[in-house]
Amino acid sequence: MNRKHIKNKHLDELKELLSIPSISAHSVHKKDMISAAKWLQKKLNSLKFETKILPTGGHPVVFAQYTTHNSRPTILIYGHYDVQDPGDLSLWKSDPFKPEIRGGNIYARGAADDKGQLYTWIAALEILQGTVPCNIKFMIEGEEEVGSKNLDVFIQKNKKLLKSDICVISDSHCLSETKPVIDYGLRGIVYTEITVKTLERDVHSGIYGGNVLNPAVVLSQIISKLKNENHSVLIPGFYENVRKLKKSERDELKKLPFKDKQVMNETGALVVTGESGYIVHERAGARPTLDVNGIWSGYNGEGEKTIIPAVAKAKVSMRIVPNQTSDEISNKFINYVNTLEPDGVDLKVEVLSTGNPILMDTSSLYFKTAENAYKKVFGKKPLYKLSGGSIPVTSILKKHLGLDSVLMGYGLPDDNLHSPNEKLSLTMFEKGIKTNIEFLKSF
Ligand code: BES
Ligand code: MN
Ligand code: MN
Repeated sequence: MNRKHIKNKHLDELKELLSIPSISAHSVHKKDMISAAKWLQKKLNSLKFETKILPTGGHPVVFAQYTTHNSRPTILIYGHYDVQDPGDLSLWKSDPFKPEIRGGNIYARGAADDKGQLYTWIAALEILQGTVPCNIKFMIEGEEEVGSKNLDVFIQKNKKLLKSDICVISDSHCLSETKPVIDYGLRGIVYTEITVKTLERDVHSGIYGGNVLNPAVVLSQIISKLKNENHSVLIPGFYENVRKLKKSERDELKKLPFKDKQVMNETGALVVTGESGYIVHERAGARPTLDVNGIWSGYNGEGEKTIIPAVAKAKVSMRIVPNQTSDEISNKFINYVNTLEPDGVDLKVEVLSTGNPILMDTSSLYFKTAENAYKKVFGKKPLYKLSGGSIPVTSILKKHLGLDSVLMGYGLPDDNLHSPNEKLSLTMFEKGIKTNIEFLKSF
């Protein structure tokens, strides 16, 4: 396609931002977090924004503001400058922090999630410079990928500063380059860590095996009681508050082209399975679930080492949906796991971070505005879908400011978010910039 909106300058700048390894989960990258925040501040300064880097209890927030006229609506653009750990580097075809363009895509950690998508707004505003008909605020956080732990307090403290008419977020995806999507709901999350300690230190498994508890076995037994073979979560009351979809909503979801086959292609899964009676979109968007994100204990090196480990740990997260709440599910999880503790074990259950689910009101004016912008650029009305991912800011803005968000995502399902070889399609990058311009111009 004709990529007249992507200037070499834009790609060069995006590459600069993508080169900064702003991994929020790793404390060794603290300096890189500041570099990424400063990079954004400098860029927004050059577009005549008033900018501030505001401290939080963790990584700072970049705030920027451009006022056209007080009588005009104010659009709050949210994004995140932090990225996920790139994982096993040998699985990347190019260095995750040396962005490379191959086959119409830009490859780097953060290309789609979220630096590249955030940059579609910066490029749009640069192109519109001097003719932006509304007021713009930016809130760009550095802790989204670690659960936006400090954002609730930050937003509560800065209500006045953040006051806006609508929040727009480009941090989700379309179904393909020709099938635009607006996600109208996001799942929430409860992220936990379970620790089982049975011994003071690792010991010889021959001398002691048969007489002491093995924490890896105990932890496996606990995990095996979290879900059954039919993929139901066994925490008492877990499903109590799950919202049932309206018939009309189910019918809409059934029309979407995303099918089991696509999940297999995208993930390499040999079967697509989950709670029976639901299609893939419902299982990922409308149903809550539980997963083990990581589990470790004992010896993992080459060859053998005969020990009984002292400690076993697992990171267990639950994706939650309306009308479940993160407090409710945190409590139910902790209470249930504690009932699974056998005698003679030191069990610890910690909630590391949480976010509430959200369902948006698609009948609002701003959804129509976004819909029209997509229509102009993609030639088609966007489809509406429930997303399985989580973006904690959405429910926090609703809680403290009554502010709604519209998810104008420009990723694709095969962008490899949180996986090796993350990328952003340059066609989607171009379309994203154009869609944002159409959106902003309509005020
Ligand atoms: N951008 C994603 C969420 C997303 C992905 C929304 C695809 C819609 C479609 C976001 O950066 C993310 O990964 N969020 C985390 C949040 C968690 C750490 C609290 C997630 O969902 O795992
Ligand atoms: Mn993201
Ligand atoms: Mn992410």
